[in-house]
Amino acid sequence: MTPTYNIVGVVGAGAMGRGIAQIAAQSGSTVRLYDTQPQAIAKARDEVFKQWDRMQEKGRLDPGAVQGCKQRLQAAASMQDLADCDLVVEAIVERLDVKKDLFAQLEAIVRPTAVLVTNTSSLSVTAIAAGLKHPQRVAGYHFFNPVPLMKVVEVIAGLKTDSAVCEALAAYATQMGHKPVQAQDTPGFIVNHAGRGYGTEALRVVGEGVTDFATVDRILRDQVGFKLGPFELMDLTALDVSHPVMESIYHQYYDEPRYRPSVITAQRLAAGVVGRKVGQGFYAYVDGKAQVAAEPPVPTVGEMPPVWVSTRAARRSELFQLLKDLGAKIETGASPSLHALTLVAPLGFDVTTVSVVERLDPARTIGIDMLVEDAATKRRVLATNPATRSDMRDAAHSLFARDGKAVSVIRDSGGFVTQRVVATIVNIAADICQQRICSPKDLETAVTLGLGYPLGPLAMGDRWGPANILEVLFNLQTVYGDPRYRPSPWLRRRGAIGLSLMHEEP
Ligand code: NAI
Repeated sequence: MTPTYNIVGVVGAGAMGRGIAQIAAQSGSTVRLYDTQPQAIAKARDEVFKQWDRMQEKGRLDPGAVQGCKQRLQAAASMQDLADCDLVVEAIVERLDVKKDLFAQLEAIVRPTAVLVTNTSSLSVTAIAAGLKHPQRVAGYHFFNPVPLMKVVEVIAGLKTDSAVCEALAAYATQMGHKPVQAQDTPGFIVNHAGRGYGTEALRVVGEGVTDFATVDRILRDQVGFKLGPFELMDLTALDVSHPVMESIYHQYYDEPRYRPSVITAQRLAAGVVGRKVGQGFYAYVDGKAQVAAEPPVPTVGEMPPVWVSTRAARRSELFQLLKDLGAKIETGASPSLHALTLVAPLGFDVTTVSVVERLDPARTIGIDMLVEDAATKRRVLATNPATRSDMRDAAHSLFARDGKAVSVIRDSGGFVTQRVVATIVNIAADICQQRICSPKDLETAVTLGLGYPLGPLAMGDRWGPANILEVLFNLQTVYGDPRYRPSPWLRRRGAIGLSLMHEEP
């Protein structure tokens, strides 16, 4: 197969340039790798050659293919060597002035038909192309680290980019074995924009003292199926990378409250407690392994009180069935008896408000998160309110742990951890669709491949009910009076018909 671009220049032989050069050569293109540091080119070729040798050992490439790849990956002694390139990919330092300067130099060297792309993750493609003679041939081509393993690339159209350029780049991405997604040039493009909900909302939960970060990680792994909790993820990415991204996207959107960063990460960054790579982040690392404190034990309870469930509980019949299965004594009166453990299951509201509104005794009232159906979750999450008696808290903890399922007891806040984080993720995704940054289908692809979420954010909304997600957001807005929870109009409109409908609106 003839690749879309026969000769590909890669400028910048760092972590990204090296990976891009590897997959471009594997697709059959001749690659000219250039860097201002000649030793960086030599090191990059060495590393890539080793990768290919390993692939040969594992039987994933035959010796002939490896030899061909090695011949096609060539060092460029100067920028002039890029003159015959059909495509040049820029992967140098993330600075607008330096990138603009490089594109101006490239424009004077390459043919008028050559396509020029930037691997920037946070700068505007439009701004990089501004001032060039032919901005219509400049696009964003945003890969993820490590490039050969992260199989998605964002193809970004700047304000003046020719759509045919994006189409050809998408076709070439497919030839390189990657999945292209198309996005408009907006802060964070798709992946870094859609990823704003997870960490920032989790930080807010911890910032409010609702629970500790390790419990948040456990809850989101066990209830939603995230591979890494938000704090494990921040430790892996390191705060010196992720905190500036949070700030940059927030400011580029003129301080949009949905993307507001946290003072927690600002302070930790200042202290140098940035993550796994320095041995100390949210977790301490010993020999590269996170040290996690044990979970509080299940309390031993003498006599279990009877249980009464609020008439307005989410998934009420499922909750009844669960209580039966756990062997609870269930009260069915219109109101709880004087001894009953009183259960509420709000969506978005806090346990305190619910117990006041429903005229329940707050000392005996406990909340349970029923957004996610019990059968689909490995953990149950309970919330106390400031008046909850410790014997009632212990009774609820012990009851819900009877079948061996993990239980976390957190303090009261609007929504539970999962409700807040999932609703925020879905809402930001809906707003990406509202802004027409990309198609709903590309959004789902970008997030599952780029962020490794168990489901695309729109599918996540559908999974637990768009109406439930909307209810969580409306109620969070009431509890906090914070515009950050304002539901996107797209979510309100699509909420009734399903979010992950993959057709485009006309
Ligand atoms: P890096 O620091 O590993 O490599 C950059 C390379 O560019 C260095 O070898 C440096 O010598 C060279 N360089 C700097 N200025 C140059 C110039 N004017 N001309 C030629 N070579 C020059 O950086 P990395 O991580 O590979 O990032 C490169 C780009 O990719 C940045 O724009 C970054 O934001 C973006 N990016 C990085 C990701 C990551 O996870 N590292 C993910 C996605 C995008």
